[in-house]
Amino acid sequence: MTYLLFALIAYVIGSIPSGLIVGKVWYKTDIREHGSGNLGGTNTFRVLGLKAGLIVTSADILKGTIATILPLFFVTEINPLIIGIFAVIGHMYPVFARFKGGKAVATSGGVILGVNPILFAIILATFFLMLYATKYVSLSSMVTGVITVIVTILQNDVGLTIVTTILTIFVIYRHRANIKRILNKTEPKITWM
Ligand code: G3P
Repeated sequence: MTYLLFALIAYVIGSIPSGLIVGKVWYKTDIREHGSGNLGGTNTFRVLGLKAGLIVTSADILKGTIATILPLFFVTEINPLIIGIFAVIGHMYPVFARFKGGKAVATSGGVILGVNPILFAIILATFFLMLYATKYVSLSSMVTGVITVIVTILQNDVGLTIVTTILTIFVIYRHRANIKRILNKTEPKITWM
């Protein structure tokens, strides 16, 4: 019952479509109609610029962190990582945006931040290293997911390995169109790095 309640709360928090809110309220723009059409931080950067991109990415990370740590203030016998998965599901399939959301990257990062800030720092460093090397946000996101799983295996943290594997499967599944574009060489590269 407790799990169900916090999973539901996490799903609702994850469902908050920050890209849609920031775009529509401050820029009178629906980012789903521009760029990649994705409701995530990357497309917000692409369509609305640095400030909006930073706000949306931070908000999407925060959704994962808040939903993950929230139960710990009320109960002890709960695995926050499992609750965090539901925030990512909310982010991908938001009840407030006709179930068309983001690609699981920032909110998954937020879940990890909630339980293991050091691993989050490793994830950030890996992501930017990959981005510097490839210039593809999508590819960097997927590779970072796989490297995160490997790091948790090396750390011998079975729970974290299971959850990061699930989150990485989400990330790769949600990047199907990006994978096709990378193979076709039509995926846009970043130009600022
Ligand atoms: O975080 C999502 C990113 O990896 C790809 O986004 O808009 O380029 O499909 P986008």
